[in-house]
Amino acid sequence: MSELCDCRAVPVPDLSIDCYDEPHRAPSRVAWHSIEPFAADVNIRCRGSPFTMVAVRQTALTDGESRENRMQSTQVGLVGFGTVGTGVARLLLDHGDRIARHSGHRLLLSHVVALNVEKPRDVSLPEGVLSNDIRRILNDQNVTVAALLVGGLEPARTIALDLLARGKDLVTANKALLAEHGTELFDAARRHGRSIAFEAAVAGGIPIITNISQCLSANQILSLRGILNGTSNFIINQMEEQGTDFASALAESQRLGYAEADPTMDVDGSDAAQKLAILAHLAFGSRLHWSKIPRVGIDRIQLADLHFAKELGYRIRLIAVAQLVGQELEIHVSPTLVKIGRPLAEVRQAYNAVSVQGDAVGRLFFHGLGAGRMPTASAVVADLIDTAVGRAQITFHALDLWSQRAEGVALCDHNRTTGRYYLRFDVADSPGVLAEITGIMGRHRISIASVIQPEPGERFDGYVPLVIMTHEATEGEATAAELEIGRLAVVRGKIIRLRVLGN
Ligand SMILES: NC(=O)c1ccc[n+]([C@@H]2O[C@H](COP(=O)([O-])OP(=O)(O)OC[C@H]3O[C@@H](n4cnc5c(N)ncnc54)[C@H](OP(=O)(O)O)[C@@H]3O)[C@@H](O)[C@H]2O)c1
Repeated sequence: MSELCDCRAVPVPDLSIDCYDEPHRAPSRVAWHSIEPFAADVNIRCRGSPFTMVAVRQTALTDGESRENRMQSTQVGLVGFGTVGTGVARLLLDHGDRIARHSGHRLLLSHVVALNVEKPRDVSLPEGVLSNDIRRILNDQNVTVAALLVGGLEPARTIALDLLARGKDLVTANKALLAEHGTELFDAARRHGRSIAFEAAVAGGIPIITNISQCLSANQILSLRGILNGTSNFIINQMEEQGTDFASALAESQRLGYAEADPTMDVDGSDAAQKLAILAHLAFGSRLHWSKIPRVGIDRIQLADLHFAKELGYRIRLIAVAQLVGQELEIHVSPTLVKIGRPLAEVRQAYNAVSVQGDAVGRLFFHGLGAGRMPTASAVVADLIDTAVGRAQITFHALDLWSQRAEGVALCDHNRTTGRYYLRFDVADSPGVLAEITGIMGRHRISIASVIQPEPGERFDGYVPLVIMTHEATEGEATAAELEIGRLAVVRGKIIRLRVLGN
């Protein structure tokens, strides 16, 4: 490095560097802090700076050993050693060579912090690495990046702020923390000159954050539609395929470790809304707090709905939607009928999926495990690598995430959003009921696409199900019609109204 120009002496904004890693090959542009690992092998020209200088190739790579000798290493701290933390430790410890080979960078696990150091774990750490003292990471200046793998809001928020203030770049899988405190954390990171990477926070092992924020940056994203909560998908799929009711399917998802002990946020759509808020922020610059996203959970779905949906050629999935309608953003989470055969309808078990439409690239579909130890660890380690080699910092600063300066997209009034609807009523089996209901729908300008009214069954008690599929209507019209129909004496109990996924 001594014979190369000292690029760090050049003001960074003025710096433009072309790297030639082979003679006659097209140069690739790199940031100043990612030069060092390659510096001995490249020609570096500094342009746009007060001077121009060429540093001549010094050595060529001869074998793996010389690469290893020059390989940089980064010391990593882990806060949290549970499901995801142990997965990350396992990847770093068991596959350190592979990671170094792929990234040209060695990640060294220096400290791991958990609450209870006596708890048995199936990953053994080198002597002295595990502790219950966060100060070991905060005070170790050699640790430049920390993975925060503790759930919930506090003390996760305080730990994150402390890590940033002590000069650590942050990687986290905690979507609730970002959805709730994104602005504060990202402001703190900018203030301290640090970065935050969070690939694992949405859709676990699916690299959706990187794709939206980097690979698709030539595009205007037009729509995002996702199955972002694996637990809900597992429950619906169990009901669909095993014929179990909602409560039994939920119990099974808890037994298998998919659902939290308190599964409320999974089944009421809040978890999906938190993830959608993060994606909408990246894709559309939306500054909407997740709690403002209109959402309906899967707890209202009954076996009958899955049955009728199938008869109509659909499956039900919990779909998170963020899409541009003109200049405005339509955004919501709801159980939705998806035409059988469309990729989102075929997502089974606890899998996640995201369908993205960009104006240049067209439609893309991402599918994979949205949670679980190793898929989530895969995303965390990718972020650690990106941070170690300097990519995460470039993206973080370029995107200006959760910034007060960013221009937010205007939100579409939820009542003005349009779509088709599936409605199921429990109605008295008497003449004129269908006319009464369709009359109300007509007055609210909702036209009917199809109707199913099965013959009374063996356990007939005077009421029968009535299922109506509508043509396009606004959410406001559908809500008003539902309220009015719900007041009819011939309608018993709750009306089930689900959206139908459009094109
Ligand atoms: N699990 C998944 O599949 C998944 C997928 C995507 C995202 N995430 C997110 O990843 C994060 C971690 O999830 P997880 O499933 O790994 O949780 P977990 O299994 O409950 O592990 C949490 C870890 O945090 C430690 N911890 C708690 N409070 C702490 C504190 N004050 N200081 C230091 N350590 C503390 C715990 O220590 P002890 O072990 O000693 O109790 C435990 O090791 C969450 O935000 C979650 O939403 C998880």
